[in-house]
Amino acid sequence: MLNIAVVGLGWWGKIITDLVVTSKKLKLVRVADVSADAAKTIGAKHGVAFSTSLDEVLKDPNVKGVVLCTPHTLHCAQIQAVARAGKHVFCEKPLCMSGAEVLTAMKAVNDAGVQIAVGHEMRFNPPIVEMMRMIKAGELGTPLQVECNFSQDKFLTLQADNWRLSNKEAPAGPMTATGIHMLDLSVGVFGEADWVRASVKQLGSQLTNGDTLAIMVSFKNGGHSMIGAILATPFYGRFSVYCSHGWVEVRDIAHPETPKGWTLTVCKRGGEAVTTNYPTAHTVLTNLEAFGDACEGRAAYPVPQSQMIANISALDAVFRSTISGKVEAVGG
Ligand SMILES: NC(=O)c1ccc[n+]([C@@H]2O[C@H](COP(=O)([O-])OP(=O)(O)OC[C@H]3O[C@@H](n4cnc5c(N)ncnc54)[C@H](O)[C@@H]3O)[C@@H](O)[C@H]2O)c1
Repeated sequence: MLNIAVVGLGWWGKIITDLVVTSKKLKLVRVADVSADAAKTIGAKHGVAFSTSLDEVLKDPNVKGVVLCTPHTLHCAQIQAVARAGKHVFCEKPLCMSGAEVLTAMKAVNDAGVQIAVGHEMRFNPPIVEMMRMIKAGELGTPLQVECNFSQDKFLTLQADNWRLSNKEAPAGPMTATGIHMLDLSVGVFGEADWVRASVKQLGSQLTNGDTLAIMVSFKNGGHSMIGAILATPFYGRFSVYCSHGWVEVRDIAHPETPKGWTLTVCKRGGEAVTTNYPTAHTVLTNLEAFGDACEGRAAYPVPQSQMIANISALDAVFRSTISGKVEAVGG
């Protein structure tokens, strides 16, 4: 079992701590939050040590891995600090906020020889795993184009000064909340992106940072991804890949906070579309346990560092494109 600490005990950190304590592969041994109340409450709830700073977590020799559930602009420095302390690091998305940051974070991780993992649980949704298997095996021919959308209306009730609505922590409106998951899956299909054109508008809410995002990504080895992400409409999740011999589509029934299963529809040339229902699974925990497996040498973490870098490099171009109103080169 991997002894872990969870740092950042807000919405997602609480979900993660509640899941980790059910795991046979991970053991929660410490929690931390700058809010003393949050640290004390969650520490007491799970009967583990608690503190108000990452530093105390890093000094604890009992902690072997750290899960970061903190605001986005803290991720890069915190990943480096965890790695320098010789501990494995799982960081919530987005892993970093720019192409330069992600390279710095990866260098720290690789210099220290520790494992890095990222909170893109959709990669672990069983129908997405099956979709990726079919694509990699060539069962649908050459992947041509992705169309996908991850929307939700959970932020409509946040206070206007919440960090998640700030242009510094969440440039491009819905991008760091939901769009980043779609970009990550698109990178999983096509690899490194070449250029991006993105536009964000405030159309249906009080979210001044923008609530409606449209992105077109062009990939180096072919294919486009068209990503929609909206924060002013009820939950919707769909990831479709159109290929030269068929297409495949995954629809989410509910938000990953309370997963309720998925449908996988596959259509091969000459046949009809066939839909399979997938029962629910808490893939936030599957992802964390894959991190544990990688840290303890049981299996490689399924998302390679090259794709983590490709995702954040494309994210950087999305941010730039929403400001410039132009096509932006990835890595430019
Ligand atoms: N994977 C997913 O599907 C998913 C879903 C929701 C949120 N997230 C991610 O989780 C992270 C946290 O988001 P959230 O919605 O829980 O935010 P939140 O505001 O609810 O919680 C963040 C917590 O971090 C604490 N914090 C701030 N600075 C800190 C520091 N220096 N050290 C320790 N704690 C600190 C805050 O006090 C707060 O309790 C973000 O990266 C977000 O994108 C991921």
